[in-house]
Amino acid sequence: MPERTHYSFHLNASNYHELYAQSVADSSVFWAEQAAMLGWHTPFHTVKNTSFAPDDVHIKWFEGGALNVAENCVDRHAAATSDKIAIIWEADDPETPSQSITYLQLQQRVNRAATMLKNLGVVAGDRVTIYMPMIPEAAIAMLACARIGAVHSVVFGGFSPASLRQRIDDCDSRMVITADEGLRGGKHIALKANVDEACKGSAVEKVIVVKHTGGAVNWNDGRDVWWHEFEHCHPALVAESPSSSARLSPLSRGQAYEDGVTENEALDYFDSEHPLFILYTSGSTGTPKGLLHTSAGYLLYAMHTFLNVFDYRQSDVFWCTADVGWITGHSYMVYGPLAAGATLLMFEGVPTYPDASRFWQVVDKHKVTIFYTAPTALRMLLREGDAWLATTSRKSLRVLGSVGEPINPEAWRWYHDEVGRGACSIVDTWWQTETGGHLITPLPSTPHKKAGAAMNPYVGVRPAIVGGDGAAIDGVAEGALCIADSWPGQARTIWNDHARFVETYFKPYPNYYFSGDAARRDADGHYWIEGRMDDVVNVSGHRLGTAEIESALVEHVLVTEAAVVGFPHEIKGQGIYAFVTLLPGAVLDDVIRKELNALVRKIIGAVAHVDVMQDAPALPKTRSGKIMRRILRKIAGGEIQSKADYEKLGDISTLLNPESVDALVAGWIH
Ligand code: WT7
Repeated sequence: MPERTHYSFHLNASNYHELYAQSVADSSVFWAEQAAMLGWHTPFHTVKNTSFAPDDVHIKWFEGGALNVAENCVDRHAAATSDKIAIIWEADDPETPSQSITYLQLQQRVNRAATMLKNLGVVAGDRVTIYMPMIPEAAIAMLACARIGAVHSVVFGGFSPASLRQRIDDCDSRMVITADEGLRGGKHIALKANVDEACKGSAVEKVIVVKHTGGAVNWNDGRDVWWHEFEHCHPALVAESPSSSARLSPLSRGQAYEDGVTENEALDYFDSEHPLFILYTSGSTGTPKGLLHTSAGYLLYAMHTFLNVFDYRQSDVFWCTADVGWITGHSYMVYGPLAAGATLLMFEGVPTYPDASRFWQVVDKHKVTIFYTAPTALRMLLREGDAWLATTSRKSLRVLGSVGEPINPEAWRWYHDEVGRGACSIVDTWWQTETGGHLITPLPSTPHKKAGAAMNPYVGVRPAIVGGDGAAIDGVAEGALCIADSWPGQARTIWNDHARFVETYFKPYPNYYFSGDAARRDADGHYWIEGRMDDVVNVSGHRLGTAEIESALVEHVLVTEAAVVGFPHEIKGQGIYAFVTLLPGAVLDDVIRKELNALVRKIIGAVAHVDVMQDAPALPKTRSGKIMRRILRKIAGGEIQSKADYEKLGDISTLLNPESVDALVAGWIH
């Protein structure tokens, strides 16, 4: 029986109901006690100072307290469990040797990286953009920022230079940390070249480049620096001669530091509410929103949920397959596991390279005990057949997690019965970029789990199902999924736009946080997530705004108007369906389709791809000119195939152009 953690609090099915009741009866008392699992420099004086009132939205936790997030994630474990492995890195190519970094080594590397940032002029509060492949330096860069109080903004490597630029400009970031290239399924991703393009004419002053593949890069003297030259050097040397790195011996990736000496600079401590990171996410309208997460509350919540939702034990090897560019990669690949002193696995590659057994090969190779992935990956692997499971045992696995989108019962059962050999617990965790950590989820020990249900609120979380009239509905209910009170991991604001934060999350249902999702509560009180109520699509667990895709499409000279909706997709969960109106005389042929997707890729990135494009002579609109996306969603989803199905559309006679519907139904592409 593996030992338990050294934290006294351990949530499970038998104490859940009692602890949940306590946690919501007085959340200040509850979280004050829980906050003892962090290492504090200065104790807080006020646990909770929050308001969801639309005219006064503010969210503050642990005011008066000060700590250092990186010290909590690294230094305290380097002192207590110095030889424990913090990060196991598994490369894209199975032939590339994996790497292990102990907590002591991680401390040295984070310190050196923090010194590098300082020597390059970064000070507390500065924003640093990170555009990296899944390599240890991604986590090290985040922690180095945290260590010196800089605010990181990680941008997923699948976003285009234009998207990267937008995110750099929005938070006025003067530094970008990247790598020469990333590797995914044997393909080289030109990260440095993308950064070069993104930075043209921007305010970026320094670009730090990790030499990862050794691929050729263009060099911008004076702006670009190699990570290995700066990370390795003694601070005094950099201070003496910041531009000449010639006499510093570069260290190749993965080579051990031999001096074993850590040049520990005095550690600074930051206020509980000091900004930790910005993470951009798509909404219904406008440009992506930079959600701001702060230090103590976020870290506590990520650590607390990590420990309890995955039933963490000290000997576990935890693998989260998310990319560091998403919130899952922040909370459950870096902050939660490291704050808990866990061993985490970071994988650069994809589930199907070199073949569809790769995930399970990696599980066996590193004896992974907790595995956390997205339903889309499971559906993809399920389709490849069980033969890919047969070559592996997966007997180290104990807990299986799912995140990012609703998991369909077929995928749930395959995960449980085949991947987990019927011997593992599944936790289907519902949460969002905005929530910082899990909000509704079963625990591994939760009995009678239902395939596809997110089950129960986490301790301290008060979900409400709210009807169109703004009133919460008790008992069996269906409606807008809202949260009635704050929890420590909640995003505090949108960077530079608090009004938009209030507008988006607190105006729709006054005195509630509105998640954007619809949900259902069943007769047992269990929650089922039904999907987005707004114009956000969830493609392969990636959140994309339909408005952003529409703006990209209308950049094409032949396109006069476009409307984008999601439709059910067997593998991706949701696919992207675009209704496109062209200039008179133009025909939506394969050439134009290709051009349009190339445009979407150029403007948004490889992460966005339109699956289906339908020629729309006209789009159905209200008399005030609003496109009726509700109708388009039903057509795209194949719900309206003949006149008999029209009743599902409601009253369309009040539309400006009801006849437009007939043409779209006739032209439906499946
Ligand atoms: C949206 C948030 C949470 C980290 C990854 C995505 C959907 C998330 C579940 C789940 C059903 C889920 C929701 C949510 N979602 N988890 N377990 N079951 N739907 O973070 O990019 O901020 O997206 O993902 O629609 O609102 P995100």
